[in-house]
Amino acid sequence: METRVLKVHPWRPEPEVVEAAARVLRGGGLVAFPTETVYGLGADALDAEAVQRIFEAKARPADDPVIVHVCEAGAEVDRVAVDVSDEARRLMQRFWPGPLTLVLKRGPRVPTVVTAGGDTVAVRCPDHPLARALIRAAGTPLGAPSANRFAHTSPTSAQHVLDDLEGRIEMVLDGGPTRIGVESTVLDMTAEVPTVLRPGGVSLEALTGELGTVRFRPAARAPGEGAAHSPGLQDRHYAPGAPMHLYCGDDGAVRRALEEALAHAHRQGQRVGLLASTEDLQAMAVDRDRVEVGVLGSLANLEEVARNLFRVMREVDAAHPELILARDVPERGLGRAIRDRLRRAAKVVVEL
Ligand code: TXA
Ligand code: MG
Repeated sequence: METRVLKVHPWRPEPEVVEAAARVLRGGGLVAFPTETVYGLGADALDAEAVQRIFEAKARPADDPVIVHVCEAGAEVDRVAVDVSDEARRLMQRFWPGPLTLVLKRGPRVPTVVTAGGDTVAVRCPDHPLARALIRAAGTPLGAPSANRFAHTSPTSAQHVLDDLEGRIEMVLDGGPTRIGVESTVLDMTAEVPTVLRPGGVSLEALTGELGTVRFRPAARAPGEGAAHSPGLQDRHYAPGAPMHLYCGDDGAVRRALEEALAHAHRQGQRVGLLASTEDLQAMAVDRDRVEVGVLGSLANLEEVARNLFRVMREVDAAHPELILARDVPERGLGRAIRDRLRRAAKVVVEL
């Protein structure tokens, strides 16, 4: 299949381009499109066969449910969910459109392929004019996981989507790089206490401010740490091709350990990649001729690090190093989501 790529203005999307993409979706086809977080791979969420094709294109296991994207709260949510609590409605008012996905009780029209057989459905309203225009034009909510091959690094540009899915989907809407760079926060509103299943674009601090009490229970990273609550949050997600070693600890210890690991790799004649902050690169001696360096950004600006993360991971990986060394980030604001992605992408986590 030939994948058509159409350039679109991200916040003033050309109606004829949006309509061409909506036509593909109404016909049961797959269209990748930008959201404020990452690119999604969309299909008509109410068409079981179309959603089934998402799983095939991504090589995604059937037990991993997809998020349903709506263009607004209110009646659009009622098409896909039932028994929506006042608390959930309040969150929609406060955080939508935006990077917050709410797990609600599944409505009868949502095919079970969307929810991996479960009786809950994850719903979100993206804060992206093109995404919302597309959903509106399609006239149906869109099931849309991140537009990458299963377990691979998430896409933050149209080129990333093509690198993973060219020839497997009908269309990509190229609306430029995404703004936030890590996925939405997944919050289970069917639990007794609202529970974060995946940290993301809306911080735990912001949710706690609104709800008072929030449980933070992302799925276990390592097998044996307990059952996965959000079925898609298995071990080794977001992974680059090369094995990644993640170093966690205070800045001094991390830099010393990275320098040692680099020196060791050089002695072994190993080609190596490095994911480091701008501060690390000022403080450390790194031989850029021998190391493929990916600059995450400043640790004082975690929004910047989130925006760069997946792109930099893909860029370093494209140089085909045998090993990637990476640093952890502080656990505040978006840092929680960044750290979650880094840990899942890592083969080895070194706690210093
Ligand atoms: O920012 C995002 O959320 C992006 C953009 C495209 O909207 N989408 C995204 O989708 O990240 P995906 O499929 O890569 O991740 C969806 C996550 C998975 O961890 C999945 O397990 C969880 O949401 N999820 C979906 N439905 C669920 C449900 N009913 N109950 C619990 N977790 C659910
Ligand atoms: Mg994903």
